[in-house]
Amino acid sequence: MANIGLIGAGSWGTALAYELSTNGHHIEIWSIAQDEVDMINQDHEQKIKLPGTILPESVHADTDLQTVCRDKDLLVLAVPSPFTRSTAQKMAPYIRYGQLIVSVAKGIEEDSLMTLSEQIREEIPHANVAVLCGPTHAEEVGKGIPTCIVAGAKDEQTAKYVQNIFMSEVFRVYTSPDIKGMELGAALKNVVALAAGVADGLGYGDNTKAALITRGIAEITRIGIAAGGQAATFQGLTGIGDLIVTCASMHSRNRRAGILIGQGKTPDEAMKEVQQVVEGVFSAKAAKKLAEKYEIEAPIIDEVCAVLFENKQPAEAVRDLMLRDRKVEANDLDWN
Ligand SMILES: NC(=O)c1ccc[n+]([C@@H]2O[C@H](COP(=O)([O-])OP(=O)(O)OC[C@H]3O[C@@H](n4cnc5c(N)ncnc54)[C@H](O)[C@@H]3O)[C@@H](O)[C@H]2O)c1
Repeated sequence: MANIGLIGAGSWGTALAYELSTNGHHIEIWSIAQDEVDMINQDHEQKIKLPGTILPESVHADTDLQTVCRDKDLLVLAVPSPFTRSTAQKMAPYIRYGQLIVSVAKGIEEDSLMTLSEQIREEIPHANVAVLCGPTHAEEVGKGIPTCIVAGAKDEQTAKYVQNIFMSEVFRVYTSPDIKGMELGAALKNVVALAAGVADGLGYGDNTKAALITRGIAEITRIGIAAGGQAATFQGLTGIGDLIVTCASMHSRNRRAGILIGQGKTPDEAMKEVQQVVEGVFSAKAAKKLAEKYEIEAPIIDEVCAVLFENKQPAEAVRDLMLRDRKVEANDLDWN
């Protein structure tokens, strides 16, 4: 049994608290919001973000970061990506040398183009930072529905430690050394999910969705490899796996925001209606900058940015995608 501090009491932090406590670990949760702390301590449920998932009474929540970081075998950082850096900054004084922090959020910082583990390492250089991601919607993990996920770390020992902590009969954990590829796949798929939602909102069908997923992973793979990820990662759970679930599921806030935009709402209206942080919107500009930095063609990301930030009509964006220059499907295909 491990002592675990869970930083962030949104949907994902709560689902992981459920999964980890079911595994027999002792969990303490930090939230920035007093009402969330009260809800967890009194009702043992995050009624707003993950209703229906009941946490054991042993799970305690606190707004005091020092209390939650102190004497823990590992910390899980689960706040939405726009708050990762600021939260890591606040945690830094309470982190001992070599403390393991598992980053479970998904995003890229727009100005620095840094992934989340890179931001955490910059704020807390003395920590050992690992990542955990894959096709894992909180709504399903909080009900014990089987899924698979990947633990990424620089060294195999840390990855295996994280694997052992999280692994259960409904939560199968693989290991990987490719933190960069995992984080890029996880962040960039949110941008493609917005496009998949727009296609749904426009009333397009399964063919369009399949085309977006397939061409989307090609785009993500090109950018990911150029930025330092390994090709196999983008064919795995944190690449194509996460992309499929986020483009197909109604649990995806990015897809839901895209649907509203496709139906004629402005991006601002869509984000307000979804009432959650739509990370794909934050990651879209970073994704475009990343593609430009490595001179990678990224037509889906370009069109998502044009719709989000330049008032381009979604139907026009789809038409421009369809009528791009004629191409061979993959550059390494052999005609002989
Ligand atoms: N929800 C999922 O199914 C899921 C699955 C896998 C990964 N993730 C990733 O996990 C991360 C968290 O997602 P989520 O679904 O829990 O988001 P969420 O929208 O449910 O999280 C909101 C929570 O963030 C916290 N918060 C709000 N403002 C804050 C601030 N200024 N500083 C610190 N914390 C603040 C509050 O506790 C709030 O409840 C995201 O990066 C997401 O991509 C989510």
